[in-house]
Amino acid sequence: MRMGIIVLGLIALLGCSSVNGDTEWWQTMSLYQIYPRSWKDSDGDGIGDLQGIESKLEHLVDAGVDAFWISPIYPSPMADFGYDISDFMDIDPIFGTLDDFDNLVATAKSLGLKVVMDFVPNHSSDEHEWFINSMASVDPYTDYYIWKNGTVLENGTITPPNNWVSVFGGSAWTWNNQRQAYYLHQFAEEQPDLNYWNEEVVAAMKEVLVFWLDRGVDGFRVDAIPHLFEDSTFPDEPLTGDTDDPTDYGYVEHDYTKHLQETYDMVQQWREVLDNYTENSDGVPRIMMAEAYANTSMTMKYYDYGAHFPFNFNLISNVDGSSTAAEIKESALDEWLNNVPDNATSNWVIGNHDQSRVASRYSPEQVDAMNMINLLLPGVSVTYYGEEIGMEDQWISWEDTQDPQGCGADEDTYEDYTRDPNRTPMQWDATTSAGFSTSNSTWLPVNSNYLTLNLAAQIDADVSHYKVFQDLTTLRKEAVIQEGTVNVQLLNDNVMAFSRELESSSDSIMIVVTNFANHTEMISLEAFENAPDTLVVSIASIDSDLTAGTTVSKSSLEISALAGLVLRASTASGASAVVSSGVITLFMAVLANLRY
Ligand code: GLC
Ligand code: MG
Repeated sequence: MRMGIIVLGLIALLGCSSVNGDTEWWQTMSLYQIYPRSWKDSDGDGIGDLQGIESKLEHLVDAGVDAFWISPIYPSPMADFGYDISDFMDIDPIFGTLDDFDNLVATAKSLGLKVVMDFVPNHSSDEHEWFINSMASVDPYTDYYIWKNGTVLENGTITPPNNWVSVFGGSAWTWNNQRQAYYLHQFAEEQPDLNYWNEEVVAAMKEVLVFWLDRGVDGFRVDAIPHLFEDSTFPDEPLTGDTDDPTDYGYVEHDYTKHLQETYDMVQQWREVLDNYTENSDGVPRIMMAEAYANTSMTMKYYDYGAHFPFNFNLISNVDGSSTAAEIKESALDEWLNNVPDNATSNWVIGNHDQSRVASRYSPEQVDAMNMINLLLPGVSVTYYGEEIGMEDQWISWEDTQDPQGCGADEDTYEDYTRDPNRTPMQWDATTSAGFSTSNSTWLPVNSNYLTLNLAAQIDADVSHYKVFQDLTTLRKEAVIQEGTVNVQLLNDNVMAFSRELESSSDSIMIVVTNFANHTEMISLEAFENAPDTLVVSIASIDSDLTAGTTVSKSSLEISALAGLVLRASTASGASAVVSSGVITLFMAVLANLRY
């Protein structure tokens, strides 16, 4: 019987991580994005790899993360650093082997971490065997890509079939001598678009999903979905009038190359692949998250067509550090919460490998407040590597620029386009190359601030971004965050707050307050009717005057410049509440056992 009690008690304690039995694993997850070139290099070549990732997985557990997504690790000529794939079913030697991948997945599973692959369906590399065969018109590959004759001018010159522009700049069409035709590429010319009107392509890409499911992955982040289908009559896009540079992506609207209905239908088909896989295996959902920069209605439409969720880019695309609290509330939080379908799982994203880092897009002082918003709103939180320690963009010279989006511009304008500054190596510690690599020379330079800004230093410090992050991921495990309602309020011009509440218990209330002004603000929390008269600071951003443990009055309190605070009723207090609920369950298990 003693054994039985211990086992029951353990189950009860572990059970805290899934408070509600109806919730599927992914609905409450904290997801972490690993950019594999930059996370951990195990063999000293200055580029991150799979063995490196495996060696550092404990960090994710320590950070309180539940799942990680790895940007592409497939064989690639690296024209777009892995987003140009020359074999969808293998691993690039730079990153390792399929065996390394299997080991990584096994270690992740043993640590309780879910693994999400980056699925890049819109295009392959121009070095993919399919494209090589397509150039030579070898069936069945002849129509695997979008080939089109050019327009022959009176003087005999051939020009692209229409005015479509690539996301990276310049015509979306490149002439191919061998095939004597143009091929379409919505991104770099080394990334020819696959032809989704061709059923064989559709089937081949479904096999790719199953290949990785068989290797144990728990889901996919699906890249650049809106670009899947293009109008097969190839009309010119209407001009925007925003620029007179025909090589700029903003020169034309994208009515015929983005967001086609067929794209949504394709997402539905992939969902069926995942659900069939789940049904025929262990019943655990395999998930699909859609990367789609789109307006709200087109974003939400992905829920209707089977995506578990489309990324919510509101805190990236709609607002930044110059936004007022009202703008943050309206354009980012309300815009999402008021439009997300009933019963859909929300999600929040504050950074990724395509965007400036939070410390640079907002400010270093706002790192903790932004992590509070990201991690404590309802649903999934998505954290780009390094944001748990507040890494900053690193300026990279034109000579050192690697990103095709930067290289496609010129020396005067590349800084507006390049994504290199936010892809620099993870700052683990103060040793050589920030502990990322044993080599002094890394594929992108390490940020010059690594001696002071690094994980090891933040673990040692009493107060740090990392410790705030850990407190937030711990808090996420509580029912009030996993199941609570949300209520967003503008407290004054500069301060936004939101509460999370459980209807069943009035003292469960938790309030996040964020000050977007550069000065201290005096506020009242009267707008939160259910909040008690006094509250306790549970988590505070590192530069806040109010620190954790301080009692404050609901009717008036001061919040420091750019600070974030998590406030709770004095009866509930963070992690200890989680443990005590486990202890109570254990006690009840003992009672239950005694009855036999
Ligand atoms: C997505 C990726 C980006 C890549 C592009 C083309 O937007 O996030 O990094 O360049 O797709 O694959
Ligand atoms: Mg396409």
